[in-house]
Amino acid sequence: MSKFLPQSPHISEVHIVVGSMVILAMATSLMVVVPWLLLQDAHPAGAGLKPYTPQELRGRASYIANGCVYCHSQQPRDIKQAPDFSRGWGRASVASDYFYDRPHLLGTMRTGPDLFNIAARQPSVDWHLGHLYQPRAYTKGSNMPGYPFLFLHKRDEDVKPDDKVINLPPDFATGQTVVASQEALDLVAYLLALDRTYPVLKRPDLPPAGDAMPRRKETK
Ligand code: HEC
Repeated sequence: MSKFLPQSPHISEVHIVVGSMVILAMATSLMVVVPWLLLQDAHPAGAGLKPYTPQELRGRASYIANGCVYCHSQQPRDIKQAPDFSRGWGRASVASDYFYDRPHLLGTMRTGPDLFNIAARQPSVDWHLGHLYQPRAYTKGSNMPGYPFLFLHKRDEDVKPDDKVINLPPDFATGQTVVASQEALDLVAYLLALDRTYPVLKRPDLPPAGDAMPRRKETK
């Protein structure tokens, strides 16, 4: 017996190897086999869930690059676990809701609200663009960072007819015309794709999807 192993006559190398194998097998069953058994009959893609368009995918890449995922989750929890449903974030998410998500953006922090169903809650492009430019213009005291670098500041005479001009609330007007960049438009297209309020067929025990999703009034 190696001098590094316990000298007890009751423990041999065989015990240690077998013990490690048993622990590994238990961990594998708990972490791999049980979740696989639970999820194998999940609907492949929730009815009503659409694949992302190329523009939404570009917006998704920007969502990752700009660190939105560090402050926003996309995983409302079950009504029995947390009050996410009464916060207006929708039913608990299920595996099939993430069918087209690679990588998934579940998030681990909720400095800001869950965005799993943000499009159902706030469907206005203008609101999203203005809020991205200056969150405090739309939500008093917001500690979300602004993303003004996703916008162009133009003189009125340089504005082109197809430019998307942002109308900020008067207190926050910059004196220049603020125009959304293509990246800002893509990011908002992605946010507006986040609507998983369709019903989940497999789980009749959940409250009907779409309830308690008050639409916020657009603030200009
Ligand atoms: C430092 C944390 C932080 C980061 C990073 C962040 N947010 Fe937020 N976000 C917040 C907070 C806090 C709020 C709530 C206050 C508000 O509405 O501004 C919020 C609110 C929002 C809302 C409105 C949600 C609702 O229910 O009304 C949207 C949409 C949003 N953020 C999108 C984004 C996007 C897109 C990005 C990345 C470009 C981002 N956030 C980055 C903290 C953050």
